[in-house]
Amino acid sequence: MAQTYALKYLTKAALSAPRDLLNSYIAARRPIHPTVLVFNCTWVCDARCEMCSNWKRGNRKLDMTLEQIDGVFRSDFWRNIENAAISGGEPTTRNDLVEICELMIDRFPRLRKFGLNTTGLTPHRAIPMIEKIAAACQRKGVIFAMRVSIDGVGDMHNLVRNVKNGFDKAYETIRAVREMQRRYRFNYGVSTTIFSMNLNDAENILAWARREKLDIVFNMIRFTEPALGNADLANAHKPVGEAEERMRQFFLDRVRMDPLMDGQNYVYMHYADMIANGYHRLAPCPFQSQGIMLNPDGALHFCENSRAVGNCLETDPGELYFRAESQAHRDEIRDTVCPTCLSPCQMNVAAVKQVVPYVKFLARATAEKRRSRRLQPPGSPGRRGPA
Ligand SMILES: C[S@@+](CC[C@H](N)C(=O)[O-])C[C@H]1O[C@@H](n2cnc3c(N)ncnc32)[C@H](O)[C@@H]1O
Ligand code: SF4
Ligand code: SF4
Repeated sequence: MAQTYALKYLTKAALSAPRDLLNSYIAARRPIHPTVLVFNCTWVCDARCEMCSNWKRGNRKLDMTLEQIDGVFRSDFWRNIENAAISGGEPTTRNDLVEICELMIDRFPRLRKFGLNTTGLTPHRAIPMIEKIAAACQRKGVIFAMRVSIDGVGDMHNLVRNVKNGFDKAYETIRAVREMQRRYRFNYGVSTTIFSMNLNDAENILAWARREKLDIVFNMIRFTEPALGNADLANAHKPVGEAEERMRQFFLDRVRMDPLMDGQNYVYMHYADMIANGYHRLAPCPFQSQGIMLNPDGALHFCENSRAVGNCLETDPGELYFRAESQAHRDEIRDTVCPTCLSPCQMNVAAVKQVVPYVKFLARATAEKRRSRRLQPPGSPGRRGPA
């Protein structure tokens, strides 16, 4: 069953390749309808994380209601969305999360992949919600990919998230998601944000995930007011000096040791590159031409670093998006913010769509793997045969 699912996933990706390439070609010449969406459905949260300040601005009264969200997603503007992710804040704090997801899954005619990130900290709410969302995706033939955030093993997680017994609660959600695989096939795993506080625990988290046979992705800490409300945390939490170099090595090790075609490797190489070259971005980003971010109050942003170009409760999102002044803002971001932006948002989606940067990445990742094999004595864990 797992093989059939993987095959279905790969077939979908291969079938969409010609359209992806065409989209990229057109998007480089004129604005196109977005294909990638991140919807932060609330800032309300069930954690108080050290590296993210969304929990400080959670206010249910400012969140769009289900009825308003329904109105916003009725617009023809969303017709080309292929990749949608729901995030926040903590999405499962919304009683109507399942309805919101169903609405997106049913309403976007081109939807291929639907993503959800959760703390998993309120298992009795999260577990039934995840199962219903998985069911809705399965009904529509949409790939569902979800991750539970884990920022340390045991106490470290509780400290980062400032939640008592947080690790045990998240683990309960993970166990339930694993058990759900008997009824629904979907991609699941854990997601870890690495920063000054838990950098020393990174290898430990990796070892734990391997023991648990959990797919794991690592995020490097970043600071963005529109998506994480945390621009003021940079001084407190960004690893610097020797710690930053250790973080670079950790990401490079992932490139060297993980399978070459693992989509996440592209992101890890990007992090290591950014540190090595003084934060000069080489990697592509789908949000430069095909992405959009919708925030809980209806504010529409081109990406996590763009200002709001308007509010969808007042104006049709298509009008906001295509108007000349908004497009001028997008150009301005591309010229001024993108060159030093760390964001990996859906970057692996963009990677395979942009042939030249991807081929360059494959060549460099292969060279890294060779270099690391040459440096290691025979029989060491890094020398695991050909990539
Ligand atoms: C903002 S959270 C929203 C979903 C949910 N509340 C959660 O924590 O999983 C989405 C992801 O962003 C990650 N994240 C939080 N703060 C971050 C930061 N400063 N830099 C990079 N990623 C961060 C979280 O660890 C999580 O995996
Ligand atoms: S990372 Fe997620 S759980 Fe933590 S404060 Fe931000 S939104 Fe909340
Ligand atoms: S600023 Fe960052 S997230 Fe926004 S489009 Fe540029 S690279 Fe992508």
